Amino acid sequence: MTDQPDSDAITITLAAKGDGQAAATLGALALSDHTPSPQAPLSSLADAIDEHGGRVALPYGNGHCLTARIGSTVAGVLYTTPPIRWLQGQSADQRARLTQALVEIELLAVSEPYRNCGIGTALLETAEHTARNAGSHLALAKIRAGAFPTMRWYRRRGYTIAAQGEPVLFRTRQGFASCDDGNDGHQLAVKTLRLGTAVRRRTARGTTCLVAEHTATQPTR
Ligand SMILES: CC(C)(COP(=O)(O)OP(=O)(O)OC[C@H]1O[C@@H](n2cnc3c(N)ncnc32)[C@H](O)[C@@H]1OP(=O)(O)O)[C@@H](O)C(=O)NCCC(=O)NCCS
Repeated sequence: MTDQPDSDAITITLAAKGDGQAAATLGALALSDHTPSPQAPLSSLADAIDEHGGRVALPYGNGHCLTARIGSTVAGVLYTTPPIRWLQGQSADQRARLTQALVEIELLAVSEPYRNCGIGTALLETAEHTARNAGSHLALAKIRAGAFPTMRWYRRRGYTIAAQGEPVLFRTRQGFASCDDGNDGHQLAVKTLRLGTAVRRRTARGTTCLVAEHTATQPTR
């Protein structure tokens, strides 16, 4: 039996050079049941971490790989990226303005013996704090459709789960922007990172969407 660490023993830091293999091994736990060939992207992530550490250069910004350590053991990993697919669909002008607007939680996994003692929550809170400080409006995670325990886990941490194909709208200085799950068998978990905003489900003409909007009283028309 593995002793459960107390939360003081958990250290969350940006991955260091040499953590690539640990990150890839843990990342495979997150991808194993829903990605046909996880090895290719994980091995390039491992190489990038081994060479540069947890700040990984990507199109439109940097990925950030956080590790949770118990002593010298890497017990959990969380990797965030800019929303590359979504940004590719924006005009060049919009792209420059919206690069920081969303942060995607690309990988999150905790090694099995260390689950249920707060490591996943600590990784998520650190990633949200970093993204909020960088000016991000929304955190998004893609969850395999039907992965109900994972959905419940995110819901308990303030995320709203979109239905498959349900768009998510958020306000920018130029008006509302919209993103979706990419129609590849996943659902989005969404959380607003801005104070005074909330994610709500809206219905219009029989279809629904999630809208991140101010919680203050809306002006009447
Ligand atoms: C989802 C996952 C990352 C959660 O990691 P974790 O470290 O077990 O998460 P936590 O310990 O923070 O929370 C799990 C439960 O432990 C309990 N818990 C949390 N903090 C605790 C603490 N300090 N002490 C005791 N129990 C605690 C809670 O009951 C919590 O469940 P809740 O949702 O009812 O609040 C992990 O289960 C995992 O790696 N799953 C496989 C990969 C995966 O599905 N990744 C997500 C892909 S999108």
